[in-house]
Amino acid sequence: MEIRLEQLTKIFTDKTGKETRAVDNLSITIPSGKLVGLLGPSGCGKSTTLYMIAGLLKPSGGKIFFGDDDVTRLAPEKRGIGLVFQNYALYPHMTVRQNIMFPLENINIKREEALKLVDEMAALVGIQDQLDKKPAQLSGGQQQRVAIARALVKKPRVLLLDEPLSNLDARLRLQTREEIKRIQRETGITTVFVTHDQEEAMSISDQMVVLEYGLMQQMDQPQEMYNHPDNLFVAKFLGNPPVNILDGRIEKGNIIVGESIVLGKTKGKDGKYVIGIRPEDFRFDPEGFEVAADDVEHVGRDTLIRFTLGDKSVRALVDSDSVYGKTTIRLAVKTSKVHVFDPETGLAVL
Ligand SMILES: Nc1ncnc2c1ncn2[C@@H]1O[C@H](COP(=O)(O)OP(=O)(O)OP(=O)(O)O)[C@@H](O)[C@H]1O
Ligand SMILES: [Mg+2]
Repeated sequence: MEIRLEQLTKIFTDKTGKETRAVDNLSITIPSGKLVGLLGPSGCGKSTTLYMIAGLLKPSGGKIFFGDDDVTRLAPEKRGIGLVFQNYALYPHMTVRQNIMFPLENINIKREEALKLVDEMAALVGIQDQLDKKPAQLSGGQQQRVAIARALVKKPRVLLLDEPLSNLDARLRLQTREEIKRIQRETGITTVFVTHDQEEAMSISDQMVVLEYGLMQQMDQPQEMYNHPDNLFVAKFLGNPPVNILDGRIEKGNIIVGESIVLGKTKGKDGKYVIGIRPEDFRFDPEGFEVAADDVEHVGRDTLIRFTLGDKSVRALVDSDSVYGKTTIRLAVKTSKVHVFDPETGLAVL
């Protein structure tokens, strides 16, 4: 089921009359059967967007379509959605089986059929042997699987997840996110996955939408967005260790930071720019620009070098072998890996 948001807007007004544009003119199409990650920092409007899709919040403007159906004014229970929150929100006094079965109570369905559906969902999320337990007897990861099974038991058209992994420890978070991806693939259900964790969004999403102050910054496949950020905000938000941001300029086809030509033969117009280079995009090159390593740190397979370029401290991740003991090194960056932004607008220009 394709989800289409057309100029979706939500304005909250507080007691003093001050307005917050939590979601501002958001127009996106979430393709049928795909998992789309809604990503951005705290307060950027992710949950507000999700709750409008769910019908829990009324938009201030714009429309929501499920396929050809305009669902903008439809009650949540009529939309055919499954919702999963950060805190599993299971009923503590019920067994896992009763929890998963709960959404089926007010629809006309035979008990044997309901039990069969519960078994099917429990198998899908891998908790068949936990059905007689109470939620408190399960791990966080298992409880979240129960919540997902409960969200899917009515065979919704759309699955909406709001930070479903945030309450889990690092190992369970990794495992459960792989499970969510598998469940989504197996069921083919159109899914919107909200997170503020860029790595999580990158690993799980078919496509990502990055929001800031309620405004869409970019929508793309994760790798595409990582390699070609449309603006400075997206460049900085994706990647760990983060992208190096430098004050630079273009002169006669050379990109220069401080005194170093970091790249030649570019197309950009002469002028001042903000230059972004990801730490992993530097490589050793005898023809490259020379830097003095201020610090060399070996981290597992990688070597992290710090040096000063212009007036900024820069981080580069390179192969281990070649840097022991050397203080002066020569580096280069591939053409497509130097990101150039307009200093006024922050928009990518190359
Ligand atoms: N009920 C409300 N009344 C007033 N303002 C609200 C309300 N809900 C959200 N907001 C504001 O709208 C903006 C977006 O909030 P939202 O909860 O969508 O952010 P979020 O991206 O989900 O953040 P987080 O990662 O912290 O969950 C914030 O500035 C928030 O303070
Ligand atoms: Mg939120």
